[in-house]
Amino acid sequence: MNNNIDDIIGKMTLEEKVRFCSGTNFWETESLERLSIPSMRFSDGPNGLRKSGEDIIAMSESEAATCFPAPAAYASSWNRELVAKLGNAIADEALAADVQIVLGPGVNIKRSPLGGRNFEYLSEDPYVAGELAVDYIKAMQAKGVGTSVKHFAANNREYRRMEVDTIVDERTLHEIYYPAFEKAIKKAQPWTVMTAYNKLNGYYASEHEELLQQILHDDWKFEGFVVSDWGAVDDRVQALKAGLAVEMPPTGGLSDEKIKLAIEAGELDERVLDERLAAYLRILFKTTAVKQEKTYNQDEHHALAEEIATESIVLLRNEKNILPLNTTDKVAIIGDLADNVRYRGGGSSQVNPTKLDTPLDKLREKAGENIQFARGYSIDGKDEQEQLIKEAEKVAESMDKVILFLGLSEEFESEGFDKLHLRLPENQELLVKRITAKNQNVIVVLSNGSPVEMPWRDQVDGIVEIYLGGQAVGGAITKILYGEENPSGKLTETFPLKLEDTPSYFNFNQEKNRVVYQEGIFVGYRYYEKKNMPVLYPFGYGLSYTEFLYDNLKLSANKLQDSDTLNISFTLKNTGKRAGKEVAQVYISDRESSNVRPVKELKGFEKVLLAPGESKTVTIELDPRAFSFYDPEQHAWRVETGSFDILVGSSSEAIHLSETVKVTETVAPKMVYDRNSTVSDVLDDPQNQDKMEELLLSLRGKLLLIPEDEENVDKMMFPMLSDLPLRGLIIFSQGQFTDKELDEFIQSLNN
Ligand code: BGC
Repeated sequence: MNNNIDDIIGKMTLEEKVRFCSGTNFWETESLERLSIPSMRFSDGPNGLRKSGEDIIAMSESEAATCFPAPAAYASSWNRELVAKLGNAIADEALAADVQIVLGPGVNIKRSPLGGRNFEYLSEDPYVAGELAVDYIKAMQAKGVGTSVKHFAANNREYRRMEVDTIVDERTLHEIYYPAFEKAIKKAQPWTVMTAYNKLNGYYASEHEELLQQILHDDWKFEGFVVSDWGAVDDRVQALKAGLAVEMPPTGGLSDEKIKLAIEAGELDERVLDERLAAYLRILFKTTAVKQEKTYNQDEHHALAEEIATESIVLLRNEKNILPLNTTDKVAIIGDLADNVRYRGGGSSQVNPTKLDTPLDKLREKAGENIQFARGYSIDGKDEQEQLIKEAEKVAESMDKVILFLGLSEEFESEGFDKLHLRLPENQELLVKRITAKNQNVIVVLSNGSPVEMPWRDQVDGIVEIYLGGQAVGGAITKILYGEENPSGKLTETFPLKLEDTPSYFNFNQEKNRVVYQEGIFVGYRYYEKKNMPVLYPFGYGLSYTEFLYDNLKLSANKLQDSDTLNISFTLKNTGKRAGKEVAQVYISDRESSNVRPVKELKGFEKVLLAPGESKTVTIELDPRAFSFYDPEQHAWRVETGSFDILVGSSSEAIHLSETVKVTETVAPKMVYDRNSTVSDVLDDPQNQDKMEELLLSLRGKLLLIPEDEENVDKMMFPMLSDLPLRGLIIFSQGQFTDKELDEFIQSLNN
């Protein structure tokens, strides 16, 4: 087969070329026998393969595949190797199903816990989202299956997701909403990037030249091709110009025709089409080169799904060490979700499982006659509530402990719409009240895709978050509840006390077609910490059945320059009686900054397995980006001179070790001055300070703001003068300093 792309494109007619600008059906791209160009197939999604038939987008009609835990769950494992195993396994299933590109991972930042699709995203924090995405992509692509990092960019709500204009400032985009994409591209080169449905600052993401051309290609050096989200393109010609290679699904030839007409009319340069086609063909030949029939072992993948689910479970509360259970404990299992378990999200990540282990079955397998079950409520709300509660009360009364399975159904959260509140369904809240009145030893197990409020927290002794744990969730929760495995998941998102506390509360879904991200960079813990607000459970939080001691923090240097890397090390010891894994987290706090910064930001983490009594040294590298902020005036990342605290902890709230490092900015940012720059802007600039002082001294006696008898510039620096725009020197010298002199002065500064 001739894979010389220029050669192939050279042999194609315009009609043939435009056909490749969209698919041939819902999932497959075009082929061209004459030039031996095969087609390829896309399938969802981030937590397993959802391979659907040719022309349907029907969510429920996909072929069976391993349904792994949802991204919100597996992110809580903070385990890079495990996420890589996941990528590998989905790749094997894709190869077996003849799928070339798997549509994931989703790396959008969870801006509000109301986001209907939060279960499909990794975190409220760009560092952890980026890190985990990299491992997933690398592992999948190493097997020859492409990924599609989605949804680029700022896709943070479902409500009117195809119309909404998302207004975000430059710094916030670079510090919060871009970095996970940026890291994925720079470190793992995903073969495709999927555009978001929404507009960003006035332009649809699919048609956004700055986004697709400047940022993705020019700045980050993306080497793959851009595919639209399904139905995200409005103006196909503009999308092609901006950088979008393939529109999905096809529009029955309409879009192709528009491109052809635009080229024929001279409105679009055919070379643009050739460039997009070349980007597409490069990836196509990569994927089809490894096309192979391969089967995978369903049982092994099911076991992996259980391993991932187990590591992802977050123990939120364990008063009086109510957990782990003994198999001799008499346990009431209450809640429809123990049986009708919710293990996956709704929408494009709705994978049809190869089998399903429910918590109830697995718990019964484990503890046999010591388990009794009552439904307590029906998840679809159809059965008679009072009757179900009464039955549950009876069971609860007769047993030592109660495990209450609670959570949200798909009616509460799914792709396609956002949540309206953060409460559990009313029938479940009522059940908690009634059951806790009958039994003092209650443990709640939660199945949900995103945080819920827990007004009942203090009435129960245990809370375990299993998120949407995939098809093997039953085995995983059983192992955690009975202590066969030590819980080691930690939250990658904050659980707020109440919806009203959330950073985007005032503007999330308040306007139909527009949203302004007023909270800026203060998303998730960055917001709660800055406002010193209590939360229900902080970012990075999760309990264990054992204990860990942090000690001996060492820095490779106490002074750094802005381009240096800092290596830190510390020891972690398991001081408890059980083997267990700990997620050690490293945050950086900038003590002083010219721009507002979060109290601290996550810049490193490591998950470490320790036997009882064992200790290990953990090392973490902090590159210059770890210290920097995005300066919108410079349109660039900057590390400012000053002291930074290096904080090591077991959650964002529990910091156990800290050291300080002094960092020096070696290249002063280039300032551009104009008439509205202030006197202090120039005085603060070491390059131009002298010129400003000289000018001010020369104006003594002429400038109303400087008394004639003042000897030096320092004393003149009262606030009125320092904030004075340079043009003010003309006004307050009553014209003795002229426009021409000002222009010359500004020119000398800018030279
Ligand atoms: C979703 C994408 C998904 C695509 C194909 C869209 O509605 O937003 O994430 O990959 O459908 O199913």
